[in-house]
Amino acid sequence: MPTVQIKDEDRIGSEAKIKLEPSAYLKKLFETGTPDLGWMNQHGEWGVRARPGNLGLRLKDIEIGSYGVIPDRGGEHRSMAPRGAAIPEEVPSLGFSINDKAECWADNAAELYEEAVARQWSSARDIPWNELKPLPDDLEHAMCQLCTFLTEVEFIAADAPTRWMSRMNQDFLEVKMFLATQAMDEARHTDVFRKRALANGGGLGKASPLAQLSLKRIFDSPSFSAQTARLHLLGEGFVLTMFRQGEFIAPSRVDQEIFRRCMQDESRHVGYGTMHLRAQLKERPNLAEEIHDQLDDAESILLQTFSVPELVEPMAILMGGGIDHFDKGMELQSQLWRRIVNEYLQRCDSAGLERRPRCLLPADFANLFEA
Ligand SMILES: [Fe+2]
Ligand SMILES: [Fe+2]
Repeated sequence: MPTVQIKDEDRIGSEAKIKLEPSAYLKKLFETGTPDLGWMNQHGEWGVRARPGNLGLRLKDIEIGSYGVIPDRGGEHRSMAPRGAAIPEEVPSLGFSINDKAECWADNAAELYEEAVARQWSSARDIPWNELKPLPDDLEHAMCQLCTFLTEVEFIAADAPTRWMSRMNQDFLEVKMFLATQAMDEARHTDVFRKRALANGGGLGKASPLAQLSLKRIFDSPSFSAQTARLHLLGEGFVLTMFRQGEFIAPSRVDQEIFRRCMQDESRHVGYGTMHLRAQLKERPNLAEEIHDQLDDAESILLQTFSVPELVEPMAILMGGGIDHFDKGMELQSQLWRRIVNEYLQRCDSAGLERRPRCLLPADFANLFEA
């Protein structure tokens, strides 16, 4: 699989056009005392007055006049000069390679960014750690193993999209800012599950080679949209459904609270990914085949990942309420699996991707080993 590479010459761009020499302007200013003020005549649309709404001054409140127009193609200068400013010819290019709006845009990006900023939480302060009580060994082992898996997978959703973020044209700043909040969310998820593993007499369990393989494939995705399908639609969609069922998995109120808070964050990430794919597939319907190929691979790895004891058994023990209720736990896990597949396919429908005829994930958990 190709990896993301930014060549030095792309980054340098038109840098050579900037002259680094002593300023004649300052000399003149000190001699004459007369300001230049030419910059006052070089600006974007002037005289605008953005007004705050009930929730303050949000990004959508400053989408006024020409500032509210998102171009289909980002500025060819490829610098970080702000969209809507007067942009001198000699600004140096940063070599952005995602320059078409359809390659990264989602109409909900600005709102999701605002929501993310408003709903940041602290794993140190907002989780009632002091209420954690010792659990029976089987439940603590199961919860710690699940936390090990989640700690393992959470940060890919920061590491992978931000590789592409730095390649996106700055005119799509709303998307980049949203992805920055996603990175912060994932840092918090990684930290909260690690803290949980260490907070109640357990510790970290066993890492999973198959989970690592699925992360590597996300990291190596050939395009941002392909990565979005693997990560936002399938991977994060999977954990979103899981967290949504957190009250049936969590062995304590503290664990419930962890799942509940992570769920709110994940729903933003999945919401962005689904909307992005919808916009992208509308613009480039023939991309569907590439997305299908990615999902064929991602689904088959996911099936393998959830066919090993260290992932199947902790969930059954947690959902059943202990190893003595393992059968009941497996039954509940089957229901959860059905819901995961169902919601994933609904997201594909919503994104405009006809995945149902091709999906490799059986609705019935008991059929996983036949897949
Ligand atoms: Fe996460
Ligand atoms: Fe996420």
